[in-house]
Amino acid sequence: MWPMTDLHCHMLCSVDDGARNVEQMQNMLDIAYNDGIRAICFTPHFKMHHFDSEEKIVAYNDSIKQSFSIISDYSANAYPDMKLFLGSEIMFHHDIYNSVKSGKCSKIGNSSYYLVEFMPSTPFFEIKNSLSNLARKGVRLILAHVERYEDLARNYKKLKDLKELGILLQVNASSIVRLKFGKSARFIKKLFKEALVDIIATDAHDDKDFSPLMSHAVQIISQKYGEGIAKKVSCINPTSILENKNIH
Ligand SMILES: [Fe+2]
Repeated sequence: MWPMTDLHCHMLCSVDDGARNVEQMQNMLDIAYNDGIRAICFTPHFKMHHFDSEEKIVAYNDSIKQSFSIISDYSANAYPDMKLFLGSEIMFHHDIYNSVKSGKCSKIGNSSYYLVEFMPSTPFFEIKNSLSNLARKGVRLILAHVERYEDLARNYKKLKDLKELGILLQVNASSIVRLKFGKSARFIKKLFKEALVDIIATDAHDDKDFSPLMSHAVQIISQKYGEGIAKKVSCINPTSILENKNIH
């Protein structure tokens, strides 16, 4: 198996609904390493409505840096070949362009890509218009857990419109493993068959039910759609994003 890269996880402790403490954060890193992940971008939630002042955003970003420093020290000792990066998962909000341009929320590592999410019930036209406006302003975007948006599943043929704007699509590894039936499972199958998935990621939140595992999903993708696709979405594309390259 090739070294995998996880560009979406909530492993940093005490900042969002991810790891609760240092021990759980370290456990999560152990799980990721043992699963074959060799590069991780931590993406704590950035939800503008959680902040009622600029000071709270600064304090939040300081906590993120503290946790990142702790896990970086742990990783350097335990796993010298693991590469760690900082990013954020940004909930779409009306002044998101200012948030990204002012540096309130982080890009994926040192790249110029941003990971963006919406509420699951957001209509297709709203997701498309919001992302299009940002893309036209030159913001490079990855849409987080694309399988979660009900209206995208209903309009999956129109997803090509997003792809034409250069917007990348991410699927959660756990959705590939867990969802065997139902609308989301059918949507994921269509996405892979039409080669619309750019990356998979763990979106891990803990060291138990939502842990940072990718290898099982990669096996399933290999069996169903071929090893080339599996390597592309778990290694080649996420690595290219970290290197700020274009994804084709
Ligand atoms: Fe997430």
